[in-house]
Amino acid sequence: MAEENIFFFVPNLIGYARIALALLSFYLMPCCPWTAVFCYLLSTLLDNFDGHAARALNQCTKFGAMMDMLTDRCATMCLLVNLSLLYPSYTFLFQLSMCVDIASHWLHLHSSTITGSASHKSIDLSGNPVLRIYYTSEPVLFVMCTGNELFFCLLFLLHHIEEPAAWLYWLLGLCGIIYLLKTAISLVHLVTASQNMAAMDAAEREKTVKTQ
Ligand SMILES: *[C@@H]1O[C@H](CO)[C@@H](O)[C@H](O)[C@H]1NC(C)=O
Repeated sequence: MAEENIFFFVPNLIGYARIALALLSFYLMPCCPWTAVFCYLLSTLLDNFDGHAARALNQCTKFGAMMDMLTDRCATMCLLVNLSLLYPSYTFLFQLSMCVDIASHWLHLHSSTITGSASHKSIDLSGNPVLRIYYTSEPVLFVMCTGNELFFCLLFLLHHIEEPAAWLYWLLGLCGIIYLLKTAISLVHLVTASQNMAAMDAAEREKTVKTQ
């Protein structure tokens, strides 16, 4: 078999497109908010698509998984920076959001890499029933992730709509609930990953004490 080039795997090509769309969206935010949101949401939606492609084509890679996660985190963070400019009085909440989002994913990914599970989404399934639904049901994962992003996008767009229709506020409220749920799940991740890390530390220290 010819040597494969991971960088040209289909899911990774989709990943590059996602990065380009996210960058384009930041660039367009000042001038064309609607186009910017369109690019942003397309980038988010492609995330679901490339996971499928990876599994269907047997092209799951660590590089691809890492790129996906970083694209998600960076894109959300950049949108939240803009939201902080649009709604300065809520900046503190946006800052909290960014911290929870980044810290929980970082720690969770690290602890699962060290403990050796295949994907950061396959850890702790047995322990927590809420997380089990979140990770084993694709529709639930899809609704949670999309709802969360939609919440930020709606906040962004509502700033530009003169007289928003009532249903937009209902949608905002609904997505807001999803956002809160997702944040709660992130906090659970943060705690369980911390416990995993500490348990590994404790085990390692015990081993060195015994060998001394
Ligand atoms: C954030 O978005 C708003 C609305 O489109 C825009 O007026 C502002 O220039 C943007 N700021 C940045 C830094 O992108």
